[in-house]
Amino acid sequence: MDSRPFRSVLYIPGSKERALDKARSLAADAIIFDLEDAVAVEEKANARELLANTLAAADYGPRARLVRINGFDTDWGARDLDVISLARPEAILLPKVNSAADIQALADRLDARGDTANTTIWAMMETPDGIQNAASIARAPRMAGFVMGTNDLAKELNCRFRADRLPMQFALQTCLMAARAAGIVAVDGVYNAFKDDDGLRAECEQGRDLGFDGKTLIHPAQLDIANAVFAPDEAAIDLARRQIAAFDEATAKGLGVAVVDGKIVENLHIVTARQVLNRAEAIAQLQKAMG
Ligand code: COA
Ligand code: MG
Repeated sequence: MDSRPFRSVLYIPGSKERALDKARSLAADAIIFDLEDAVAVEEKANARELLANTLAAADYGPRARLVRINGFDTDWGARDLDVISLARPEAILLPKVNSAADIQALADRLDARGDTANTTIWAMMETPDGIQNAASIARAPRMAGFVMGTNDLAKELNCRFRADRLPMQFALQTCLMAARAAGIVAVDGVYNAFKDDDGLRAECEQGRDLGFDGKTLIHPAQLDIANAVFAPDEAAIDLARRQIAAFDEATAKGLGVAVVDGKIVENLHIVTARQVLNRAEAIAQLQKAMG
């Protein structure tokens, strides 16, 4: 598994100059520059120009730069892709993906251009068809990540918001499973109440425990909590080191298993332990690069 951190993935409306500027110094692992639902219809054209110019000129350092364009079934999607591609974002995030054919259609457009050879595709997973087709979407060309669109999904399902997100679990786990089978990143949906730190922390912890790489965020005040929850903590790092040491010792004695804190440690646990250390190292490197 790639250890590039995606703990905190901040949405920024492409129309908000001040927020675009501010983001250059925020502790976000990745940014989703949005042209879709965060931008009003009458602002779409201006936002596209502003964002293209900003991305071409501003330095976002090591933060991953994703652009969420409008769908190709709208008046703006095709032009969004043309204008934004000039600024060479790492990824295009396609909203309301229903099937692998939607991804293939975007991949064909990227293939046809000269400037998007390395551009990856991320998919918003937020429609009933999309969730049911998650496995094939995750394996479609250029796919690199899923973003859960939990607000749209709740609307489509007609389900209620609950603190435990019980009505969301099937969709969350289906997408996580598909992402892991295909080896792509999976990022959880947003927490709307951006002044409720306790609620945010609880939802981040649930997403982390399910296996997500990080959480999409709507406000800078949410960054620290997501960054902390999705990073291995001191206890996890310490345990990983002790597991590796104990297993090395056991192996030297010709044994296939070790015991740490009363629990069995086998080869597969060592794979996880090494991943924990790799992720901690990748986070430290990213923080250093952000200065
Ligand atoms: N990214 C970067 N900076 C942001 C930001 C974001 N998503 N949201 C707010 N900020 C900045 C503001 O520009 C402001 O900067 P300043 O102090 O330099 O002026 C600062 O953070 C504080 O903002 P605040 O006044 O608390 O928030 P607000 O009332 O201006 O905006 C929201 C609140 C929710 C409307 C705004 O955070 C937002 O637009 N979020 C993104 C929504 C979105 O993209 N939705 C689509 C996906 S669900
Ligand atoms: Mg949506």
